[in-house]
Parts: sequence; structure tokens; C-alpha cells
Amino acid sequence: MQKPIFLSCFLFFFFVYFIPRQSFSCPQDHREFLLEFKKLLTHNIKNHSTQIALGELKTWRPNSDCCKWKLVRCNTRSPSKEVTDLNLNGLVLFGSVSSTLLRPVLRVSSLMRLDVSSNFIQGEIPGDGFGNLTRLISLDMGRNSFNGTIPPDLFSIKTLQHLDLSMNAIGGTLSGDIKELKNLEELFLDENLIIGGEIPPEIGSLTALRKLSLKQNKFSGSIPLSISHKNQTKDWSCHIYYQDSRLAMFNKPVTCKTQRTNQYTFMQQDQTKDCNL
Ligand SMILES: *[C@@H]1O[C@H](CO)[C@@H](O)[C@H](O)[C@H]1NC(C)=O
Ligand SMILES: *[C@@H]1O[C@H](CO)[C@@H](O)[C@H](O)[C@H]1NC(C)=O
Ligand SMILES: *[C@@H]1O[C@H](CO)[C@@H](O)[C@H](O)[C@H]1NC(C)=O
Ligand SMILES: *[C@@H]1O[C@H](CO)[C@@H](O)[C@H](O)[C@H]1NC(C)=O
Repeated sequence: MQKPIFLSCFLFFFFVYFIPRQSFSCPQDHREFLLEFKKLLTHNIKNHSTQIALGELKTWRPNSDCCKWKLVRCNTRSPSKEVTDLNLNGLVLFGSVSSTLLRPVLRVSSLMRLDVSSNFIQGEIPGDGFGNLTRLISLDMGRNSFNGTIPPDLFSIKTLQHLDLSMNAIGGTLSGDIKELKNLEELFLDENLIIGGEIPPEIGSLTALRKLSLKQNKFSGSIPLSISHKNQTKDWSCHIYYQDSRLAMFNKPVTCKTQRTNQYTFMQQDQTKDCNL
């Protein structure tokens, strides 16, 4: 009669201590980072000139599984159920919120897709938060009021495939460090109006790049040969606006489109060399 009892005890302790623990909800720190973001966001409601769409954030409650919250997706196949997607676009309806409210969000290091577009976010992009985002594939910060320059830490996210910083107030120049983003397929920097200087030739070394839009900025100089000589893939497109509204586009087959006083001319690339318009 001793044996089965011994065995039961053994099995009990075996299950308690040795079976890898499967968690049934998202990691606690991820939940806390997201609740902190919600707190910073809702804090702005006290300012009557800012309006927030709270509907879906009502599902963001303490002591609940953040994988079940709206706007959040987790890796349900992983035992730790870490947060991978945050779709936080259009939460601010009008007014303004500070870019510092993104800090807790950027601490969710398992993120693969982050969309904070269309949120009236003001201030500089909190660049130091990018260091831990080693799995980020898609980052959409477009249609806000970010100012300052593109933070250098952004170029450390080697996994990035899609980067949208369009329609902000970002200044400075586009660094040649853009070449570090070797997996980049789409880069949208349109309508920042104050990005100046030359387009870095390093862009041409981004072999995966198939969409590049630099419309309505203040780039000067010529389009680097590296871009115009870039091996053309099926859906490669490139839109570049210059300071004086000159427009160049590359599409397959390699053509260079120029605009002068609303007149469009199409030129073969080999006729225009470096498309110095
Ligand atoms: C409320 O928002 C306006 C507009 O962004 C800003 O000027 C003002 O300082 C804010 N007030 C408070 C108390 O945050
Ligand atoms: C960016 O915007 C914030 C808030 O509007 C302002 O305090 C800051 O001085 C601006 N920074 C730059 C570099 O323009
Ligand atoms: C990056 O992660 C480390 C370890 O979790 C943490 O100590 C550090 O504060 C994080 N950095 C940022 C900028 O969040
Ligand atoms: C373009 O493709 C050709 C042939 O596939 C290759 O030899 C060449 O190195 C490529 N050039 C660039 C800039 O990737």
C-alpha cells in the first residue's frame, strides 16, 4: 500500500516542479507597460483641448490577460505569450499629446509591429527606447507632429522592413546609416518639409528596398547614381521631391520623370545619367 502513495507524491512534485510552466496570459511586465501607456494617454483627457477615443482601451484592464485586449496581439504559440503587435493608430482625435507617452510602449521588447500613426503626438521621437526592439519588422509613426531629427538608435533595428515617418515635422538630414537597415523594403519620409541635405547614396545599397518616398521634403543635390542604378524589381517605386518642387520618380522600366511648372517629361535613365534634373 505504500508504493502507490509514494508514486502519487512523486508525480505530484514532478508536475509542480518539473513540468515547464505554461503561462495563460501575457507577461506581467508587458501588461504593466501597456497600462502605463493608457494612463499617460488618458491623463491628457483632463486637458479639454485634447480628445481621446477610449472605446477599445476599455478592454485594457488591470488583472486581465493583455492578449485578450483590443489593439493588442500576442505570440500565442510561444509559452510566454509575449506581445507582438500594437495597433495604436488614431486614438487621439484632436489636440496634442507628448511623445514621452511612447516610452512604456517601447519597452515591450518583443514587438514586431507597432503602429502609432495619426495621434497628434508632439515632440521628439524617444530614440533611446529603440535599443531593445530587436524583433521589430514594421514601425508606423506617420501623421503626427514629431519634430527633432531621426534618432540614430532607429538604425539599430536591423529587422525593420517597413518604416513610415511621413507627415511629421522631422528636420535634419537623412543619415547614411540608413544602410544598416538591410531588410528595409519600404521607407516613407514624405511631407516632413524640413529634412534637408543630400539623399545619402547609401540608400542604393538597400537591396530589399522596393518603395521609397521622399516627397515634399527639402532634399538638395542630385539623385544618387546608386538609386537610379538600383536593380529594378517588379514593383520598385521611388518618389522624390526637391526643394524647388522638382519631382523625380523611378518605376519599372527605369524611367526618370521630371516635373517643371506642371509639365511632365519622361526620360530614360541612360539619357539622364544621374537624373540631375
Ligand atoms: C492643453 O493643451 C493645449 C494645447 O496643446 C496646451 O497649450 C496646454 O498647455 C494644455 N494644458 C495642460 C494643462 O496640459
Ligand atoms: C519639439 O516640440 C516640443 C513640443 O512642442 C518642443 O518643446 C521642442 O522644443 C521641439 N523641439 C525641436 C527640436 O523643435
Ligand atoms: C532595455 O532592456 C534592459 C533589460 O531589460 C533594460 O534594463 C533597459 O532599461 C532597456 N532599455 C530601454 C531603453 O528601455
Ligand atoms: C544587379 O544585378 C546584376 C545581375 O543580377 C548583378 O550582377 C549586379 O551586381 C546587381 N547590381 C546591384 C547594384 O545590386
